[in-house]
Order: sequence, then structure tokens, then C-alpha cells
Amino acid sequence: MNAKAASKKEREDALEGIGCSRKRVEDPRFTQGKGNYVDDIKLPGMLHGDFVRSPYGHARIKSINKEAALATPGVLAVLTAEDLIPLNLHYMPTLAGDVQAVLAHEKVLFQNQEVAFVVAEDRYSAADGAELVEVEYEELDPVVNPFHAMDKDATIVREDVKDAKEIGGHGPRKHPNHIWNWQAGDKDAADKAFKEAEVTVEEMVSYQRCHASPMETACCVADFDKINGELTVHGTFQAPHVVRTVAALISPLPEHKIRIISPDIGGGFGNKVGVYPGYIMAIVASIVTGVPVKWVEDRIENLSATAFARDYHMTGELAATKDGKITGLRANVIADHGAFDACVSASKFPAGLFMIVSNSYDIPAAHVSVDGVYTNKAPGGVAYRCSLRVTEAIYMMERMIDILAQKLDMDPAEIRLKNMITPAQFPYTTTFGLQYDSGDYPAALKKAMKAVGYDDLRKEQAQRVEDFKAGKTRELMGIGVSTFTEIVGAGPSRVCDLIGLVGTFDSCEVRVHPTGAAIARFGTKSQGQAHETTYAQILSSEIGIPASDILIEEGDTDTAPYGMGTWGSRSTPVGGAACANAGRKIKAKAQKIAAHLLEVSEDDLEWDVDTFRVKGAPSKAKTMKEIALASYSNVPEGLEMGLEAVEYYDPPNFTFPYGAYICVVDVDVDTGETKIRKFYALDDCGTRINPMIIEGQVHGGLAEAFGISMGQIIDYDEAGNVVGASFMDYFIPTAVETPEWTTDHTVTPCPHHPIGAKGVGESPNVGGVPAFSNAVNDAFTALGGVHTQMPHTAPRVWEHAKELGLVA
Ligand code: CDP
Repeated sequence: MNAKAASKKEREDALEGIGCSRKRVEDPRFTQGKGNYVDDIKLPGMLHGDFVRSPYGHARIKSINKEAALATPGVLAVLTAEDLIPLNLHYMPTLAGDVQAVLAHEKVLFQNQEVAFVVAEDRYSAADGAELVEVEYEELDPVVNPFHAMDKDATIVREDVKDAKEIGGHGPRKHPNHIWNWQAGDKDAADKAFKEAEVTVEEMVSYQRCHASPMETACCVADFDKINGELTVHGTFQAPHVVRTVAALISPLPEHKIRIISPDIGGGFGNKVGVYPGYIMAIVASIVTGVPVKWVEDRIENLSATAFARDYHMTGELAATKDGKITGLRANVIADHGAFDACVSASKFPAGLFMIVSNSYDIPAAHVSVDGVYTNKAPGGVAYRCSLRVTEAIYMMERMIDILAQKLDMDPAEIRLKNMITPAQFPYTTTFGLQYDSGDYPAALKKAMKAVGYDDLRKEQAQRVEDFKAGKTRELMGIGVSTFTEIVGAGPSRVCDLIGLVGTFDSCEVRVHPTGAAIARFGTKSQGQAHETTYAQILSSEIGIPASDILIEEGDTDTAPYGMGTWGSRSTPVGGAACANAGRKIKAKAQKIAAHLLEVSEDDLEWDVDTFRVKGAPSKAKTMKEIALASYSNVPEGLEMGLEAVEYYDPPNFTFPYGAYICVVDVDVDTGETKIRKFYALDDCGTRINPMIIEGQVHGGLAEAFGISMGQIIDYDEAGNVVGASFMDYFIPTAVETPEWTTDHTVTPCPHHPIGAKGVGESPNVGGVPAFSNAVNDAFTALGGVHTQMPHTAPRVWEHAKELGLVA
């Protein structure tokens, strides 16, 4: 009996290609505890390291006594800055062009700074030893408030660079605690717009210091092989190749003798891009002891020392006509970078991509100025689920446009629609020179408004205010609108590079095996985003091999092609494009082989899902599987054997996904408690590879946005003590607090991406925070409230109600 030939649709479905909600292939191992994380790596003879950390925010180190620690059973070594100086390793370069102390030398500059590294037979002995290292300190005044960091009489944070003319090549400094000033836009044009404006608004909008707090903290196992002079480091690295290059630059080891392996990673969110002292110390300790050394930080260490996010204090200004057309934008920003400038930034952009601040609006004149300052706080400045300061910029703009709407007595949605870039204006060049690729912003917002019943919600809100004034209710209602344009897919190497050395391209290498299965390797590195699932989908649509027959590998610098790694939602825009183009190279070669096998010219063939057919004679055909076998046995003369392709893709532009979010919140004025009643999120990320995974990305990002806007803050008291450095204090929303999400989408393909895709991972974090914050602020606008700073915790909301005279 002849089996019925599969239909085109059946063959397409069997591929599980682009557009399919394919189940995540990673999940069987993740959900059964079979993932291979750094802490699962146990090498023979492996030792463990732990840090002695500073109890002070700012202090001089007078002496360090290792004796008692060295006498602790199991402790083998105690390393301090004095041990690193001969190796010139007491400071390491940061991604921002500054240097950071690996172990504190002479002074400690923030609480929990690394002071000594204890190496022991097990983790417990290392911790016991760390307890017994005696450090004598002389306390110094800390610089805590970034607004006073550049005061005339401010304590100098960094004595090592106090006389440096510039840091990271970013121009003259104004003060020993000043790092750089960065400006963008046209100051004269912006000033003129403000001079001539009918209406202006100004507000200081802070985006508080918070933390990405991935489930797995930073960790590594360093393994130095003395005989062969080879160093292998297994670590939680989002960008393994960059780590290898930095290691080769600062050590005597040549790059080919360094192998960086990122195994499974339990969340990164930007927290695992930078290089931390723990990595350096594990490597040094492995070289010193000749055996592998593991370093795994605990939660408090992660929250208090391993980088921070945001800490941008933005004075925003908008100029507008009386009927709400924005004519000018200005922003003056103080960026608190902590004790070392270790921000993850492209080297030309010390303030990241802050110039996305004009957002989805057609603003004719704008100017921004950002000053980075040193304070006695942890360094880091990670782009927490964000392409380098995008979330800060969008937050400021989305608060400012609401504040302008309030001043003009306009509806927040109406003022947005009035100022949005229209579809006819694409490709649109912003006043800062960014070229937006594609979008229909008004359509997205109108769809969102319709979906939530916006007009009815506003009526209900107005009635609620009346009832509140009449004493019939003590609950107010806020509606938060957020429309955002994201900039992801860093990026064109001509504008974006890391450490001034390597461009932000990415890569894919595909090899099809004789039986028609394939392996593809990438320079990116998934930390939970399911690249093993989705890259295979892109390839399967390109080359007609089922996604289930394609193995995706990332994270081993000995096998993966060089790439910039995964951060700032760049995997789909850059890695995904490399993947599609590598697939196209495979297909082009396969076409030559098919023509040879079918004895026709290449031009006589057409592609049909997984098969090349002769035009006009469709039964004469060769499937990709057949071609794969022939590529190892019967290729046309002059063509090399095998079916392999490599693509290094340097994108021509960023991609600009966007969205329209609406949040409805009920606020109990007497307790300050907020209840999220509804959250609707519409995202447009161009071509959707896996709708289910996109939904998961949006859910996760919104949960983070909820956490940030409603509860998270890493604060410091006047003495420089870090407050909020454990999960007792730092708000991590669980399923109990997290509201329900309604997700939606429109599809506007990216014109310059091979499959029309834009990134999506960070959009919900960028767009979600202003939606929550606008909702809480909106609840009070009818009663005179203008702006309150995040996080909108119950005590803060209650305080605000009190300030407005709404509670006794
Ligand atoms: O760089 P990162 O992986 O963090 O972010 P991304 O490029 O936004 O992708 C996150 C996940 O969403 C990946 O598994 C993508 O393949 C998926 N995605 C998608 O299915 N379709 C898109 N247009 C964008 C992302």
C-alpha cells in the first residue's frame, strides 16, 4: 500500500519552523533538575574560594592579618591585594574603560567590597577562614548622595584616579568624583524650543538603584593546566568570547590557550555580562594552587556587590503648544555609577543608548546631558533586561508625557496619539539621529485602548473620584498608559563595540550531516531564552530540515564561532539574522547539488518547503535529506564536499520593536495598598519565531517590571550601609503577588532583518515599568498629585496620599 504523500501544509508543520509554538527543547532537562549549571561542575581535587568583604562603605585599610584564617582546618591560602600587585592584577579593566580593584588596595570603597580571598578544601572551611581574617579599618566619610558627589568639599572616592584627565576616553572631568559628561542632540535648537514654548513642564524623575537578581548568582570554576599552559573557565558568562579576549589581554596566556565555557545559566538579565573579582580570583587561585578552584557567591554578595542596575536621576523637561504638540525635550541626568565605572556600555556611549529618550514621538528638537559620578556604592551599571540605559530613558519620557497631559488637561492616550510618529514617516530619523526601521504606533495604541475598553475605564475613574470626594469610597483608580519604542540588536559595529576592540556582530556556523541532521553553533548564549528551540526553528524554515533534527550549541569558545554574546535582546536581531543567512548559504549550495543530481540548471529549480523541484516537472525533485547525503558523495565538479556554512553578521542598523501597554490599578488611600486589576501588553517584534516563547518572555519581563516599579530598591543609608541586600528586604514578586497579564501583538516586520524579526526579551521590562508607575501616579492626578518616585510601595503611596491631604 502506497503511503499518501504529505501535503505542503503537513510538511511545513513537520518542520516546526518560524511561527510555530514549538515546545522548549531545553525544558525536559530544566524541569527535571538535569540542567548542567556551574555549581554542578565538580572537578577532581577542586578547591573553593570565598571572599572577606568590607563592613564599611568607605574606609582605609590599616592592616590585614591572615594568621588565624590560615590556621583554620582546610584553609590553604589567603590572598590579598599585596599578593596581586606583583602580578599587576590588583586592578582589572572594566567594560567602561575604567579600572576596578580586584581586591581592595589601601581603601575600601563600598560595603561588601572584596578585600581578601580565602581558598580552602570545601566551601564551609573557606567561609570559616574568611570570618577569621582580621582587617583593621579606619572609617572615612562616604559619598552616598549622587547629587552631592561633585560638591566642592565632597570626599574623594577614587584616590587612584583623582588626577586623571579623563576616564574611559570620555572627555574632561569637572571634579575628582566626576567620571564623564555625555551629551546628545542640538542644545541651541532645544533651548530655542523652550524659549518659544507656550507650555513647559519639568520634573526630576528617578529610576532607583535596583538589581537583576537572577535565580543563579555569579559563579565559576577555574582550571589551570600547568603542564599544557591551558586555562579553562566554566562560568556564568553571557558573553563568553568577550571574557576570553579580556583574559588574553590581561594575562600572559595566549587566546588559544584559554577556553571559556558557559554551561546552562540560570538567568542573566545583564548581570552576567561584566567581569567580576570572583572570576579573577578563582583563576589566580587555580594558577597558584595548581588545581581547579570554584567560586560561587551567595545571594547577599550578589545583591550588594555584583553589580547594580539603573540609579539614573533624570530632570526631564518638555516644551509644547497649548494643544499638546511637543516642540522640545531636554534632560539633565546624574548617573550614580558607584565606586568604579564598570557599566556595560558600548565604548562610544558612556550613557548607553539614552538617546532613545524621544521614544515613539515626533519631537523636533532635543538635547540630553548625562554626568556619571563616583559614589561609595557597588559598581556595575548592568543593562538589566535592557539595551544600555533604554529603560531609564523611556521611563523618563513616559512620565514626562503624562505630566504634560496633566498640565494641559489632556487625556494621556490622546496626547500620545497626537505626538506619535506616523507609519508614513518610516523610515524615521529621530532628532538624535537614530533611524527607526518600521512601525505603526497609533494602530498599536488604538488596539490596546479598544481591548481594555479605555473610554469606559476613564468614565469609571472619573466617577470614582466623584465618589471619593463625596466620601462614598476610600479607593482611587489609576490608568497607566505606556507606549514605547525599543532599540535592540546591538548593533552595527561602526557605532557599537565592546571594550573598544571588538564590534557587535554575531555569528552562526551550520553543518549538515550526511543523514540530513544538522548542528548549528552560535556566538550568543542563552540564559533561559530557549535559543536551542528557536534558532532551530529559523534554520528549519530556511533549509527544510525539521527543527527536531537540528542541534543548537552555544557557550564554548573552543567550538562556537566568535560572537558578542546575549544581552540587550540582540540574539534574534543579530544571532537570528546570522542563522538565517548561514541557512541561505547552505540552501544555495544544496541547490547546486540538486541541479547536478537532477541534471538540470540551477535556475530550473524551485524550492518547496524541504525539497528542490524542477519547474514544470514537480515530480522530479530532491529533498534536503537526499541532497545532504549527496553532498558527501556526489557533488558537481569543482564544488567541495560537505554541506557547511558560516555567517558573521554585522547588522546594518538596530531593530526597533515597540509596544502599547495599559495598566489599571486600584489604590487604597488609607493603607497605600495597590491592586493591579488589569494589565494589557501589546508587543510588536516583527516576525514572530515562536509565539509561545514570546509570551513567556513578555510574562517574565512584566513580572520584573512589576517588581521594580512596585517594590525593588537597593538603598544606602547615610553611613554607606547597603539596605535591601537580601530577599528579606528586596522585593521578588512570587506567583502570589504577580498580577495576571493579557498579551497581544501586531506584526510589522523589520525591513533590514533577513526574516523580518526584531528582539522582544527586554520590551516588557522597558514598557512595563512606566505603565505601572503611570497607573499609580494617575490615581492621584485628579486630586493634585503630579509625580512620585518609584518603587510605589504601600508606605510611599500612603505618604503621597497624606501629602495631598487625602488622609489624616
Ligand atoms: O537576546 P535574547 O535572547 O535575550 O532576546 P531576544 O532576541 O528578544 O529573544 C528572546 C527569545 O524570544 C528567543 O528565544 C527568541 O527566539 C524569541 N523571539 C521570537 O520568537 N520572535 C521574535 N521576533 C523575537 C524573539
